[in-house]
Amino acid sequence: MILLEYRGVAKDYGGLRAIDDVSFRVEEGEIVGLIGPNGAGKTTLFELASGFQRPTRGEIWFAGKRIDGLGTPVICAMGLARTFQVVRPFGEMTVLENVLVGAFLRSRHAHAARTRAASVLKDVQMTGRDAQIARTLTLAGRKRLEVAKALATAPRLLLLDEVMAGLTRVETAEIMAMVRDVRQSGITILMVEHNMHAVMALSDRVVVLHHGRKICEGTPAEVGANSGVVEAYLGEREIRDA
Ligand SMILES: Nc1ncnc2c1ncn2[C@@H]1O[C@H](COP(=O)(O)OP(=O)(O)O)[C@@H](O)[C@H]1O
Ligand SMILES: [Mg+2]
Repeated sequence: MILLEYRGVAKDYGGLRAIDDVSFRVEEGEIVGLIGPNGAGKTTLFELASGFQRPTRGEIWFAGKRIDGLGTPVICAMGLARTFQVVRPFGEMTVLENVLVGAFLRSRHAHAARTRAASVLKDVQMTGRDAQIARTLTLAGRKRLEVAKALATAPRLLLLDEVMAGLTRVETAEIMAMVRDVRQSGITILMVEHNMHAVMALSDRVVVLHHGRKICEGTPAEVGANSGVVEAYLGEREIRDA
């Protein structure tokens, strides 16, 4: 079953075409990696699917329903949750309270929400951190909390935006294991990730964006062997070294 589909999607910001005629699908149960140099439009695709922005053209479908133009709470209630590249905890609230915000989407009752929040905190290995004030967490802790907040809404599809950025190798390996567990639990994943090793190891398929266009789509092996993809990344390195 197709869970998420972009159909000919474009997004203009003023004179800038951030996304240009992008189409691809995510099947239920997959982990799909979304890669591309900085500014390629990866986060913008998440903004569009989660309802934070509307496409200038094209359509976005989720679980058989058209969702572009719907509000963020409606889309979240349908089962699509995202994390933010720049993490957004409720800084003055505890870890548990942050996760409860998501859990209350699914249950009106405090007890049920608490049970759900505790279970999610266990899944992201934050048991015992319940009472910690969110802004005092390390970066790795804040990244985990970002995932926990999204999981608490009981999504069918989870959009992960660079949850490994800035983490150590050990922390990255832990997050990779967590991503596998999340998929194992029946949640489909579309992930933006700069860590090539991680994205290639985790993904069933990879979609490559460059200047707002899809330049390649395939298995990690196919994408790794594509000369256009290599050039897009070499171009980024030249800019960075300049
Ligand atoms: N809200 C916005 N307003 C104006 N321009 C934006 C906005 N969001 C993103 N952009 C621009 O769109 C392009 C794609 O950005 P983004 O989707 O964040 O790329 P990526 O996540 O691949 O690094 C960039 O040129 C960026 O500056
Ligand atoms: Mg981004």
